[in-house]
Amino acid sequence: MEHDFWHARWTHDEIGFHQPDGNPLLAAHWDAVGAPDGAQVLVPLCGKTPDMAWLAARGHRVVGVELSDKAARAFFDEQGMHAERVRRDGFDVYSAAGVAIWVGDFFQMPAAVFDECAALYDRAALIALPPDMRRRYAATLCERLPAGCRGLLIAIAYDQSEMAGPPFSVPEDEVRALLEPAFTVSPLAAHDALADNERFRQKGLSALREAAWRLEHGGGSLPVR
Ligand SMILES: C[S@@+](CC[C@H](N)C(=O)[O-])C[C@H]1O[C@@H](n2cnc3c(N)ncnc32)[C@H](O)[C@@H]1O
Repeated sequence: MEHDFWHARWTHDEIGFHQPDGNPLLAAHWDAVGAPDGAQVLVPLCGKTPDMAWLAARGHRVVGVELSDKAARAFFDEQGMHAERVRRDGFDVYSAAGVAIWVGDFFQMPAAVFDECAALYDRAALIALPPDMRRRYAATLCERLPAGCRGLLIAIAYDQSEMAGPPFSVPEDEVRALLEPAFTVSPLAAHDALADNERFRQKGLSALREAAWRLEHGGGSLPVR
């Protein structure tokens, strides 16, 4: 998706993807990820998810990356935090209380930031991107995150012919094809999610599965394309 698409979504508050109470699969499965205490957690395409505050409250340092300045500022406002803003490597970086949000393009993030992340949380990042960008996104994670990095991935799967993305359907075989070059991918949970997503039923979906995956980086990677 082009940047303008997402900026328009934020400008017009068309953010049906946002979960004001966070994603329940995070609290249910984060312990199973086995992220080291105090690990820096990368949250790509973070929006204003309160999951970042949840991770910070667990003692993690959180690095979110988000195109929308409005989303970044809204996160800190809604969490009642006063954020400092600095300019780093072409990004505005807002930070407070263990959460830093880098405002700009994920694909332009400095490699050094990835080096310092021992954990990853992806909810609605991989599935936000069309196929060619998904490959580039996954290759970036494979190549730049360090060996040993642990992650939680939350993805959805449905019949792509029933609805145009985003969010896109990313079923198990694609999760594995994209990430197994570097990560061990283990299923944690999967459930039918259509009943909780009336907006997708109205768009014509007949079935929707939400799944959580544990990721562990084993050191291999493919070159970023
Ligand atoms: C589907 S939303 C998910 C947000 C968040 N992960 C959540 O669970 O609420 C995708 C977000 O990614 C942002 N985004 C899209 N492309 C991006 C890019 N290339 N770099 C950084 N952020 C991006 C959008 O502005 C949007 O806020």
